[in-house]
Amino acid sequence: MKPVNFSNHLARLLLCYVGATVISTAAEDMILTDFEGGNFGDWKVEGEAFGDGPAKGGVNGQMEVSGFFGTGFANSYHGGDDAIGTLTSPEFKVARKYLNFLIGGGKHTGEACMNLLLDGKVIRTATGPNDKPGGSERLAWASWDLSELMGKAVTLEIVDGRKGGWGHVTVDHIVQSDVAEVADEVLEFTVDKRYLVWPVKANSGDKVRVFMTLDGSEEPFCFSDIALTDQPDFWTFTDLEHFQGRKFTVKAKVPRALAAAWKQVQPSDTYPGEQELYQEPLRPQYHFTSRRGWLNDPNGLVYQNGVWHLFYQHNPYSHAWDNMHWGHATSPDLLRWTEHAVALFPDAEGTMYSGSGFVVPAGKSGLPVKGETALVLAYTAEGTRSYLRGRKTEQGLAVSPDGGKTFAKFPGNPVLPHIAGENRDPKVLWHEATRRWVMALYLDGPDYGIFTSPDLVEWKRTDTYQIPGDTECPDLFPLAVNGDTDNVRWVVWGANGMYRVGSFDGEKFSGEGGVRRHYFGAAYAGQSYDNVPDGRRVHIGWMRDGGAGLAGAPFNLQMTLPMDFTLRGEGDGIRLHAEPSAETASLRVKTREWKDWVMQPGDANPLEDFKDGLFEIEAVMDAGTTAKEAGFRIFDDHAATWRPDGQTFSGTEGAQPPLDGKIHLRIFVDTVSMEVFVNGTYQARYIRQAEGKLPIRVVADGGEVKFDSLKVHTLKSVWK
Ligand code: FRU
Repeated sequence: MKPVNFSNHLARLLLCYVGATVISTAAEDMILTDFEGGNFGDWKVEGEAFGDGPAKGGVNGQMEVSGFFGTGFANSYHGGDDAIGTLTSPEFKVARKYLNFLIGGGKHTGEACMNLLLDGKVIRTATGPNDKPGGSERLAWASWDLSELMGKAVTLEIVDGRKGGWGHVTVDHIVQSDVAEVADEVLEFTVDKRYLVWPVKANSGDKVRVFMTLDGSEEPFCFSDIALTDQPDFWTFTDLEHFQGRKFTVKAKVPRALAAAWKQVQPSDTYPGEQELYQEPLRPQYHFTSRRGWLNDPNGLVYQNGVWHLFYQHNPYSHAWDNMHWGHATSPDLLRWTEHAVALFPDAEGTMYSGSGFVVPAGKSGLPVKGETALVLAYTAEGTRSYLRGRKTEQGLAVSPDGGKTFAKFPGNPVLPHIAGENRDPKVLWHEATRRWVMALYLDGPDYGIFTSPDLVEWKRTDTYQIPGDTECPDLFPLAVNGDTDNVRWVVWGANGMYRVGSFDGEKFSGEGGVRRHYFGAAYAGQSYDNVPDGRRVHIGWMRDGGAGLAGAPFNLQMTLPMDFTLRGEGDGIRLHAEPSAETASLRVKTREWKDWVMQPGDANPLEDFKDGLFEIEAVMDAGTTAKEAGFRIFDDHAATWRPDGQTFSGTEGAQPPLDGKIHLRIFVDTVSMEVFVNGTYQARYIRQAEGKLPIRVVADGGEVKFDSLKVHTLKSVWK
């Protein structure tokens, strides 16, 4: 006997809404077969594939099979993928509205499937989910609505006529029921509210694939896998800002267990938790975070008409990476961000991976530019994650018809079809000297490529380069050396913050000197702003690796502070130097200052008052200190200290050369993060402020430390 599953075996009282509220009693489920016996009973067996009787698990070296009920199920893997055969049921009468069953294995309609036959004709068919290597042997629910066949005599056949990869099918627990195990739900409305709200699990949970369409279109503009629940970890939303007045349709196959949760998916002018937005206990107070959900790489960083645009990799529906959208926020000062509705949605092209943003003047491209300029986004369509099979990873463009509010995908996409492996993350810029568009693109393995185009539509490859130790997320930009605009070098940059300095003629990059590293700690996948005046090169990165730090928050992970890059040094020694962007000074509220001050070992800590909160430490100290370790400890031992013997600074790998004999420090502390700018390099860490309640300490371990200056600025929240 298999264990009794109450939801399936007991008659259920159902509340049905049909116009007015009616209460009806669902008739008891009828099990057609549960494949629990030693053989197939009155089912007809043909061929070898199904063996002599129900399987008790994987057979013949099959992957682990899960999701079946009890101990047995029909499995056509006896003899492997190449074996074929058929199981045919005796005729039975349709006596309930639905036929529910579990099915897994290959996705080969007509060849590895279960069919329902009426008068010898196939009138319904279902398959498992797999049609490419990898995948899963998990059986999942399917339901057929048979209401129009009530009383008719039908038969089932489980067919395996398919050889080769995933050439098999698994089936279990075929039940006639008045309740669908999976319902085809449709939610349709004319948008007059700001949000469509969703109750979700933070990290895990069975996901429901949801398709969204506009104005009755057949083609979804968005699909996402959402871990719905009626016991939400938090509520999230689809922001309907740009869809007002339009007909909006959401379709999903919703399992019976989530029927109650689905009912709570509704348009609304607010969402639970909106009252506390930006005041939540773990919310950073001057770093960008998304209102809800997951965030990774900054994308499409572009400045235009006084507005800094920040697009970013975003999953609005969970704490975890998935469903890559491009979120969108704008700011007048790189700190005070207004988050808007999503700019790019995962659709038939695939999910929307990283890329860049730039301003395209009319007449300089083959794109539809209305007015003088258009904001354009170059993105990777991760076609292997499309809901359509057979798509590849390709590069596409999206053009804003309305000054950067909404974006329409270019009908000529992909502008760059698949080239190699993982090719992604296009960084596009205008190269004035050659009057062409240039794209840096991560290709595969260690390779990045350079492509050029007269019109953004036709691209040709002109170079391949490497940044040893780095992959993904290229940036490519020029900078004046030591501020001399007659002495310009180009920088190639990768996701880990490794970079090379050299020259670039519009087609090829030639490195001078070796690879250097700018980022340390949690910083990753940053890029610089396009179109910034005055030769400024402003950069924002992503802080990954939040650990448990943000568990429990309705959002996950933050961006770095904005920083300005310059190039400093001579010859082979030219290197990137970053300072927090000048705009950060607007966060300062109060300043305590020490000048020409010496901290002796054993001196009282002057920073006892700083036990929590938001602040910046600005210090210049002698690198030639007699102390073994000199600098600061932030709260529970997050070191920001210099060790003169190894010439190293905590959290940065290798030597950290002093500048003119000094260590120049800017340390920023926000709710869950600490960032250190040390002599122009950058490191980021997630911290928890509340653990041991230690104040910040000045460290002078075993010797004296001389500070030319030390300032501690208390900072304000951008949300208050
Ligand atoms: C870097 C990255 C990119 C990719 C994106 C997907 O973090 O792997 O290469 O485009 O994330 O979210």
